[in-house]
Amino acid sequence: MLPLTVLEEVSKKLVDFEGTGMSLIEMSHRDKIFDTIHNETVALMRDVYRVPDDFHIIFLQGGATFQFGMVPMAFLKKGESADFIVTGTWGKKAHADAAVVGMANAIWDGRDDGYTRIPAQHELKFNPDAAYVHMCSNETIAGIQWQYFPETGGIPIVADMSSDVLSRRIPWEKFGLVFAGTQKNLAPAGLAVVFIQKDFATRARTDLPAYLRYDLHIKENSLYNTPPTFVVWVMNLTLKWIQSIGGLQEIERLRDLKADMVYAAIDKSGGFYKTGIPKDSRSKMNIVWRMESEELEKKFVEEAAREGLDGLKGHRSVGGMRASVYNAMPVEGVKALVDFMAHFMKKNG
Ligand SMILES: Cc1ncc(COP(=O)(O)O)c(C=O)c1O
Repeated sequence: MLPLTVLEEVSKKLVDFEGTGMSLIEMSHRDKIFDTIHNETVALMRDVYRVPDDFHIIFLQGGATFQFGMVPMAFLKKGESADFIVTGTWGKKAHADAAVVGMANAIWDGRDDGYTRIPAQHELKFNPDAAYVHMCSNETIAGIQWQYFPETGGIPIVADMSSDVLSRRIPWEKFGLVFAGTQKNLAPAGLAVVFIQKDFATRARTDLPAYLRYDLHIKENSLYNTPPTFVVWVMNLTLKWIQSIGGLQEIERLRDLKADMVYAAIDKSGGFYKTGIPKDSRSKMNIVWRMESEELEKKFVEEAAREGLDGLKGHRSVGGMRASVYNAMPVEGVKALVDFMAHFMKKNG
């Protein structure tokens, strides 16, 4: 979901960008106009997400999935290993890709619990020689989210934050690299935003094909090849929208408000709506729950859709229901959902 004001501005300016007689998406990415937007977007990202000066910010194609392979190709050198904390679908995919490249140790795997919880610090035993530790801060499908970032004994963390990027302040000092696909909280699909700590960046291999070289993308200010200019433009507008409503602090307040409303509806339903996820692992972005039978779940999704509540079906790999309450979801949207949940329970409970 994108903020309505962003979509409206895009539709207003799409054909003729600010009186230039041309659409922004027709212009060259070397054009001064796009260049200004691109640099402003990087600066906005640094400001809004409070990214320290010792991090590069680059935009890369291939989404978050491409980073699953690109990170180990650059940072997992011969004879080295990396630690993986596998908390769900996305952690598994990143681990599998790294294992193709080198030694990827799954030091914790939530498989036995059906990926329904985040590990506690004491369950994590890091390999002191690991080149990095990979984690996924929010497992979009399982609906579980880290509420802390682990102490790794100084090993840089590589974090996939695709589905909770810009929804909270993060302790930047713990990270070597953070990446996030743009399509949840930032813009349409088409890019990953990659934040790389400057010392960590110097460890990246440079003897790789061009697109796999972080050093090249950093040097070329993400313009090594033609970027999806539309995605950068929308991200620019989304970042300005976050600023206009009060920045990350306001995003955090709204995030808590919205997530608490849905979890309260689940918790006070007396088991009609069920979540097996312990409170300390619950995602504030993707809220998942089940009902007594698949038949009832199907009915819930169908009736909700008729009320204009779309996309509540859980991911096909896990079933059940999922409410994704990304940054742009207005509080009224969540209010409509919890009202519907109460109404549906009354009729079917
Ligand atoms: C946490 C997480 N990581 C990675 C991905 C894959 O992202 P992409 O489709 O941009 O490659 C997703 C997609 O939903 C995701 O939620």
